[in-house]
Amino acid sequence: MGPQTRPFNYLEYFSVYQNIIPNFEEFISHLKTPHQQYFRVNNLKVPPAQVPDLLSILEKKGVIAERVIEVEGFYRVINNEEVSLGNIEEYGLGLIHSMTLSSALPVIALNPQPGELILDLCSAPGGKTALMAMVTEDRALIVANDKRIDRLTALSANLKRLGVASAIITHYRGEQFPFGIEFDKVLVDAPCSGEGRYRVGLEGELLYQKGSGRSNLPSIQKGLLVRAYDLVKNGGYIVYSTCTINPEENEAVVDYLLRKRAGVILDWTPPLPYQEGLTEWQGKPFHPDLQKTKRFYSHQTKAVGFYVALIQKLN
Ligand SMILES: C[S@@+](CC[C@H](N)C(=O)[O-])C[C@H]1O[C@@H](n2cnc3c(N)ncnc32)[C@H](O)[C@@H]1O
Repeated sequence: MGPQTRPFNYLEYFSVYQNIIPNFEEFISHLKTPHQQYFRVNNLKVPPAQVPDLLSILEKKGVIAERVIEVEGFYRVINNEEVSLGNIEEYGLGLIHSMTLSSALPVIALNPQPGELILDLCSAPGGKTALMAMVTEDRALIVANDKRIDRLTALSANLKRLGVASAIITHYRGEQFPFGIEFDKVLVDAPCSGEGRYRVGLEGELLYQKGSGRSNLPSIQKGLLVRAYDLVKNGGYIVYSTCTINPEENEAVVDYLLRKRAGVILDWTPPLPYQEGLTEWQGKPFHPDLQKTKRFYSHQTKAVGFYVALIQKLN
């Protein structure tokens, strides 16, 4: 059996994290549960007074949902395994957008405000761009960039469906995004190995894997984060996020930025359970402030695993 046909040994793969993930056995068994579906009600199309009507229409169509108290605008699908949100008319009409709960976290950390100029450096297919438009009531100016032209189609379709008017789309390699405009805030929702999304079947077979495994991603991520830092105005904010739990793609990337530039890591209060960022990995120490970055594990949040760092530019 060649290396490509060998079954994915998820126990071995994740065993490197045994000492950093709390309740590791629960983490491992949670990998065998299906992804919990969530959606965000699109306040650009649905005023608050009409949300109860929307929920009862969804319920008649078989989507039973409850409000997520911790994260504004989000709903948890109770009959998770019976529903495919993308096939529902209200989704097509842009009244709701399906996204995992934890993908709201980078946006919450960045705290976009009306009137700000915001760069979403790796934006496709646009979940976080759309969420930033929703929380600013379409009154920020968001530059939604992505390197992959095939993914720009989905980005553009999502923004159109959701009625987002405040975003413009650009197509650059993030590392080469042109200088000339100083942004108030930059989001780097970086391409990553997607370990926070991994799911395995009852026999341990890999059911869901996003991304390309562990490879040269850290060097791409470092290039993106340094460019984001250089694009933001002095005193401005950068959020670096991934949907992986791999420290090489998380703390090590932010640590690299701190060694190259004069940024500071800021604390923020997430609405979901989290663990502090690591200050050491496999014998390599990181800047002590990495502790202020946040790790989110799927067995604790009941959503995709995430990592979020909030950085302020201070030159
Ligand atoms: C994690 S996904 C972004 C998800 C998106 N922020 C959302 O919320 O829907 C990472 C994105 O980075 C893009 N990407 C990969 N390498 C890039 C680069 N060098 N510059 C800009 N974008 C890049 C990928 O095409 C992909 O769309």
